[in-house]
Amino acid sequence: MKAIVINQFGNADTFYETELPQTQITPDTVAVAINAFSINPMDIAARAGYLQSPFTDNWTFPLVLGWDFSGTITQVGQNVTKYHIGDQVFGTLPSNHAGNAGSYAETAVVDPASISTIPAGMSVDQAAALPIAGGTAYQAIAQNLNVHPNETILIQGGAGGVGLFAVQIAKSRGAKVITTASPAHTALLQQVGADQVIDYHTTAVSNVLVDAVFDTVGDIAGGLTVLKPGGKLVTVGGQPTPEQLALPDKSVSFQFSHSDTAVFDGLITLFTNDQLHIEVQSLPFTAENVVKAHQIIESHHTTGKLVIHITD
Ligand SMILES: NC(=O)c1ccc[n+]([C@@H]2O[C@H](COP(=O)([O-])OP(=O)(O)OC[C@H]3O[C@@H](n4cnc5c(N)ncnc54)[C@H](OP(=O)(O)O)[C@@H]3O)[C@@H](O)[C@H]2O)c1
Repeated sequence: MKAIVINQFGNADTFYETELPQTQITPDTVAVAINAFSINPMDIAARAGYLQSPFTDNWTFPLVLGWDFSGTITQVGQNVTKYHIGDQVFGTLPSNHAGNAGSYAETAVVDPASISTIPAGMSVDQAAALPIAGGTAYQAIAQNLNVHPNETILIQGGAGGVGLFAVQIAKSRGAKVITTASPAHTALLQQVGADQVIDYHTTAVSNVLVDAVFDTVGDIAGGLTVLKPGGKLVTVGGQPTPEQLALPDKSVSFQFSHSDTAVFDGLITLFTNDQLHIEVQSLPFTAENVVKAHQIIESHHTTGKLVIHITD
């Protein structure tokens, strides 16, 4: 199989294309021909050498990075009954996958508990964009913050991979959404339903009290200044301090996301109900484009998700 790999940790331009043997399925897994994969900030940390155990436990060089994918099933383990050859699915690979088993490749071996079937009307690029970013947003808004109608939520970083999903999931639950972004992203955020978009370069969020905060950028202190007593803040962008975690009247927590079929099915329902626009920038499957995608994400100003397309 063709794979885009690194032979050492380093800058984005360390990726190159190579041929590797295909990973073998087990009785409890399925093999997919990968249609597309998306790139997350976690991939940038991985490539730079910043991730630690358990992510790195099974890594060897040349290393195939990547977790998110969409793919077409080519082999089914003997104990798997839910999926069949030819099914088009999307999902995420185990966080501690082996060094030759990431998603920047033409094939992967997948746990059926970490995939769902791509619904009608969703492209393979859109499906590949969903797992980590969509799953993280869904867990935060629908599960951890459990946003209700008529509540007001502040979503810091509304235009990024996680934020753009979070804005829409909060709107689907009837909340009023205030979000922060650069001016170039105001129109897109308004189109997907944001009630108020604040340019964080010039204006601090103030003169408002919100019921919930979802922080995707690491500004926990800023979020807390506008959170009502009794309100909840969930962050995926920074680590709360011991003082923030111990606040008597506000709940602060760091979310480590675990996307699974139940979360994916929640996202599929929103998509099918026309409540989830999936904003992707898709690039063909070359080492140069993986380098480019990593560099764009390192700029911290992406719009939605960056996807590498292999085949329909
Ligand atoms: N804990 C977990 O399990 C978990 C899971 C997924 C992601 N994460 C983390 O969550 C964070 C967000 O992930 P992502 O995929 O959404 O990243 P991303 O797509 O790279 O986010 C880029 C976006 O961040 C916005 N941004 C940057 N600085 C900002 C600021 N100070 N205020 C408001 N917006 C700002 C940019 O908006 P503008 O261009 O409009 O400025 C851009 O659209 C990352 O740190 C990632 O590692 C954690």
